[in-house]
Amino acid sequence: MLESIEKIRKEAEEFLASAGGTAEQFRLTYLSKKGILNGLFEDFKKVDPAQKRAVGQQLNVLKNALEEIHASLQKETSSDTGKLPSEDLTLPVVPDSQGSLHPLSIVRRRIVEIFSRMGFNAEDGPEIEYDWYNFSALNFAENHPAREMQDTFFVEKADATRDDLLLRTHTSNVQIRLMDRKKPPVRSIMAGRVYRNEAISARAHCQFHQVEGLYVDKNVSFRDLKDTLLHFSKEMFGKDTQIRLRPSYFPFTEPSAEIDVTCFICGGSGCNICKHSGWVEIAGSGMVDPNVLANCGIDPEEYTGFAFGMGIERITMLKYGINDLRLFFENDQRFLKQFVGI
Ligand code: PHE
Repeated sequence: MLESIEKIRKEAEEFLASAGGTAEQFRLTYLSKKGILNGLFEDFKKVDPAQKRAVGQQLNVLKNALEEIHASLQKETSSDTGKLPSEDLTLPVVPDSQGSLHPLSIVRRRIVEIFSRMGFNAEDGPEIEYDWYNFSALNFAENHPAREMQDTFFVEKADATRDDLLLRTHTSNVQIRLMDRKKPPVRSIMAGRVYRNEAISARAHCQFHQVEGLYVDKNVSFRDLKDTLLHFSKEMFGKDTQIRLRPSYFPFTEPSAEIDVTCFICGGSGCNICKHSGWVEIAGSGMVDPNVLANCGIDPEEYTGFAFGMGIERITMLKYGINDLRLFFENDQRFLKQFVGI
């Protein structure tokens, strides 16, 4: 009998060490009415009277040991259930996903900020526009082929009460709305979305973003245009940047010029981005055509002005080496995540 008491004590200790069983399982096996301990007490009755004292003592020792084991099992399970995983300081940190600005927003903000330091205030205008503001007031004659340079999405055809309604093809509509409202001096920067009926590809999209600048006052000259854009280019692309003006044509500016900057990828020595010319085109510009000023009730004899417009996607693609325009509109996390912290 003494041997089996000893064996049971060992088994019970192993039960505790194995950590596999619950307090309840332990109680059922050892301490319940039909459990092992009660069985031993039954057997105890039949023990030889000469041995009763020694066996009785051991039996009590076993009983105490089993009760202790049961108590410690109970303690373990109750403290387990009360524990929240977050209290385990050894667990790895739950990753915190940080949002980021869209690359187009980063570049737009930067452009607007540079011009606002030069005294340009930010203005806004509608994306759904009348033909007058998008074309006619900007000196696009009725059947002028330049209207076809910008494939237009029409919203509603004109009727007796109003003009054609369309999605603006450039931000130049805001120039007209601004000069209608405000007399010179006008010095504003206007960023926004524009639409053209183009097949979507890596290089073209039916929607994109432009930033337009307009400065109208007495004695505004072509030199002011050049200096303003040179300063902007140095701020935006680095202080060694130079600009080059190439003659161009826009119905609303005369003379007109395309603005190139020294390639900020290769510094002008020639690379794939600048097609080995050392220059990249960033904007269209020119002196506001006198007809446009007159269309807005501003006397072209008294005032002159310059305007420029640039594509935000184009600058962003050049700046970050992005080669597919569609990436800007897909909102793929794998693309956007790369701009965290910029
Ligand atoms: N609106 C012209 C375009 O979209 C850009 C431009 C703006 C050119 C202002 C000259 C002056 O192509």
